[in-house]
Amino acid sequence: MIDTNSPIETVVATIARTASEIHQGLVGRRVTTDDENPSGETQFKADLFADELLADRLSSVDGVAQYASEERAEIVDCGGGTLAVAADPVDGTSNLPSNNTMGTVFGIYDAPLPAPGTALVAAGYVLYGPITTMMVARDGTVTEYELAGGERTVVRDDVTIPDDPAVYGFGGRVPTWTDDFREFVRTIEMDEALGLELHYSGAMINDINQVLTHGGIFAYPALEDSPEGKLRLQFEGNPIGYIIETAGGRSSDGSTSLLEVEPTDLHDRVPLHVGSTELIDRLEGTLAADSG
Ligand code: F6P
Repeated sequence: MIDTNSPIETVVATIARTASEIHQGLVGRRVTTDDENPSGETQFKADLFADELLADRLSSVDGVAQYASEERAEIVDCGGGTLAVAADPVDGTSNLPSNNTMGTVFGIYDAPLPAPGTALVAAGYVLYGPITTMMVARDGTVTEYELAGGERTVVRDDVTIPDDPAVYGFGGRVPTWTDDFREFVRTIEMDEALGLELHYSGAMINDINQVLTHGGIFAYPALEDSPEGKLRLQFEGNPIGYIIETAGGRSSDGSTSLLEVEPTDLHDRVPLHVGSTELIDRLEGTLAADSG
């Protein structure tokens, strides 16, 4: 039974409410600014708007000690409590100009940031699709909600990754993939019995939601010129790893669970591979065989 008055649930409810403001605030903010985030990426007006909203709303929640995001260099000290919220306020901004699906990702850690994924007590994301949905993992279970008119309605309890994988999607340009990752992709694409279909949108949260809904695999792997890949451990890797593992799947940096990766810096990147257990096992097998 979820204690709706707990600080964790208050954070989840606050993000759900803020998400509808973020969604409405996208209008007129699908354009870039002259600013860059700490990872060196050009920021959209929507990134800055959503980050400010989340910082403002979450810093006044009792029990939240820290707020951090992909869009700001420093951690916001929110006062009391032990919880730290790490967010990617608008994930997948390259989908904004074309008006395609993207989302908001968050992890709630019971530890000061940067923290490993083992310190997560909840994680989730909001998907701004044809309708707005929210996936939340906590207490060993994943719940899907629809958000509409300020209300959050449960549409699926105990979400688990389907047993029979159906879709795949991988980020990064193919010529920049490592040889062993390219070999893994070739073998699963040619596996008729597996029968995977390519579903790749360029917005991680959308691709993850497809894997969670249909079964399969998503990765933004290590690249030849970027061995840590692109995605950020605190804001993307850990929350997504936590959600997928809670739903019965696996996460990996190539050899171990994302949740076991020790952070060295708030804005660390990590190679991210998540999805159905058999596919992540197979990926790790290929990477280990080729590096051995
Ligand atoms: O920054 C995150 C993100 O937008 C993800 O949502 C997406 O998976 C990835 O970057 C796509 O990056 P690129 O288009 O640079 O390969």
